[in-house]
Amino acid sequence: MRGLSSKTVVVTGGGGGIGGATCRRFAAEGANVAVFDVDAVAAERTVAAITSDGGKAAAFACDITDHEGVQSAVSKVNTSLGPIDVLVNNAGWDIFKPFLKTSPSDWQKLIAINLTGALIMHHAVLPQMVERRSGRVVNIASDAARVGSSGEAVYAACKGGLVSFSKTMAREHARDGITFNIVCPGPTDTQLLGDFITAAGNPEKLKEAFRRSIPLGRIGAPADLPGAICFFASEDAAFITGQVLSVSGGLTMAG
Ligand SMILES: NC(=O)c1ccc[n+]([C@@H]2O[C@H](COP(=O)([O-])OP(=O)(O)OC[C@H]3O[C@@H](n4cnc5c(N)ncnc54)[C@H](O)[C@@H]3O)[C@@H](O)[C@H]2O)c1
Repeated sequence: MRGLSSKTVVVTGGGGGIGGATCRRFAAEGANVAVFDVDAVAAERTVAAITSDGGKAAAFACDITDHEGVQSAVSKVNTSLGPIDVLVNNAGWDIFKPFLKTSPSDWQKLIAINLTGALIMHHAVLPQMVERRSGRVVNIASDAARVGSSGEAVYAACKGGLVSFSKTMAREHARDGITFNIVCPGPTDTQLLGDFITAAGNPEKLKEAFRRSIPLGRIGAPADLPGAICFFASEDAAFITGQVLSVSGGLTMAG
């Protein structure tokens, strides 16, 4: 993919399933990858996989809901890897509960991680992109944002919010040379999906229902996502901004 070599890329939730696969792909494209994760051990695991393949990466233990912690991690990236060219907001968390069974403390945690955390990351990273008049932001939402999803009302609301926030950023910063695009995974085989379907009860039945509803006939794998994410970060996507792309085996065919 054009234009990723030697770029400094921050991926939040880079210790997880989709985030880890994305970090590895950016590194394989020649980027220097800053792996942000609240789980320091998971972030280090991603870095070890990249460095053993000859790539460049560094781990940053960082909770994206902590404004000061994020500012500090971003300035450490600037010192150790240089100015940030690409930001991928991928960290996320979910619980399966019908809305009327959720509590305000559930909403607070869902909103903090899935929406406020991404806002904090934008606030910390965008000023340097504006100053350099160049940057790429890729936000990971969900098909739940596009079509709704039972048991995920507040999560879907956050992801829908992230989509409209991204489109607004795309307009506000178009003349600054920064693009913002959104990738929406469908059900993808990671810890997040595992926890979600276990909480829903009867996980095998739910997995089978997902499989049947996906036209391409299988649940996604983490490795299905990095191609779309790296594309939006690349020079090949220089004239694309404010767009939403589902990577979900055809589950959502939105116009
Ligand atoms: N797996 C799916 O079925 C699916 C579907 C749609 C959207 N998504 C989205 O894809 C993204 C990646 O999810 P995944 O499936 O790879 O999940 P995952 O659980 O494998 O990874 C999520 C990562 O985010 C990190 N994280 C959580 N809270 C954090 C915080 N406060 N600060 C920093 N890091 C934090 C976790 O430690 C973990 O490493 C998420 O935004 C998720 O909402 C996933």
